[in-house]
Amino acid sequence: MHSSVNRIQVGVLGASGYAGRELCGLLLRHPSFSLSFATANEQRGQTVRFGSAAVTYVATEDAPLDSVRLVFCALPHGAAQPWVQLAREAGARVVDLSNDLRPGSGVSEHIPYGMPELGAETRNAVRSAQVVANPGCYPTSILLPLVPLFRQNLIPPGATIIANAASGVSGAGNSPKRELLFAEVADDYRAYGVGNTHRHMKEMVATLHGLGDADLVFTPHLLPMARGILASITVPIVKELSDPIAPLRAAYEHEPFVEVISEQPALKDVHRRNVVRMTATTLQGTRSPMLLITSALDNLVKGAAGQAIQNANIMFGLDECEGLPT
Ligand SMILES: NC(=O)c1ccc[n+]([C@@H]2O[C@H](COP(=O)([O-])OP(=O)(O)OC[C@H]3O[C@@H](n4cnc5c(N)ncnc54)[C@H](OP(=O)(O)O)[C@@H]3O)[C@@H](O)[C@H]2O)c1
Repeated sequence: MHSSVNRIQVGVLGASGYAGRELCGLLLRHPSFSLSFATANEQRGQTVRFGSAAVTYVATEDAPLDSVRLVFCALPHGAAQPWVQLAREAGARVVDLSNDLRPGSGVSEHIPYGMPELGAETRNAVRSAQVVANPGCYPTSILLPLVPLFRQNLIPPGATIIANAASGVSGAGNSPKRELLFAEVADDYRAYGVGNTHRHMKEMVATLHGLGDADLVFTPHLLPMARGILASITVPIVKELSDPIAPLRAAYEHEPFVEVISEQPALKDVHRRNVVRMTATTLQGTRSPMLLITSALDNLVKGAAGQAIQNANIMFGLDECEGLPT
């Protein structure tokens, strides 16, 4: 593994999972972080290669938490919180990729929600945080387009926002599940977690709470691809806009990881990149004005590991873009 006295030593818990592996790959190329340990559960003891680097997974219980300044926790939701606590007690700062500490999770302590593009207040909170809750993949694709519309008072009170989003299969993690076998998902496309029951609902509702008064209907779909999320979001707005893209452009013109474009975003354009691409279109033929917003991201990069490193860069006063694929 990398070692350099000048680099910031970091460790990854859950490094053998999809998000953890993506983190390891990015960290091994990062100019300022050095990967000091990588843990696994069932895959403990295995050695894997990331390009020319070889990494041997240690058991999570054997992670030398007190030897690093930062721990990325990529454990399954439910399992993460105790390990976040142990890392803190060992003196490390933490970026947690699970649901456990995000808005709506019910934790009493205020943990900054690491979606830097929400603005200066978020960046300041992340910069000084001991623990950051890294956002979920679907919420990143849905909240980044919606928040500016709320902030610009474009969504009428009582509106119903309908977000349909499709994710590649890596979104479900790499523990074996029959319904995720290749022969089950290939040539298929289906909704799941219907009826506003997906666990990302709470995070989105809690983040939008206070920005406006609207209902969110969120239906995830399983896309027979390895990675990528495409979200289509139907939003009532208070008035017809001569330029439907303008509110998003105004919000994100200086953001390196948000691409507001006039064409339709496609998954191949965001593949392995730490970006969200989005556009907005006026809907024709509706009796009140509505926008269709489409957004695309790579669930393992901007939806997980890339955004986690973006937050870590902020926490350690580095250039926010350092080591990230744009
Ligand atoms: N996949 C995504 O697109 C995505 C996006 C955003 C956020 N996240 C979040 O990131 C976290 C990891 O997701 P993932 O998709 O990478 O999951 P995953 O592929 O299932 O990986 C889970 C990791 O945790 C380890 N692990 C499982 N149970 C454990 C336990 N009880 N104690 C210690 N280690 C344990 C696994 O080790 P072994 O494999 O060796 O058993 C593996 O390294 C989750 O909280 C998820 O919600 C995922």
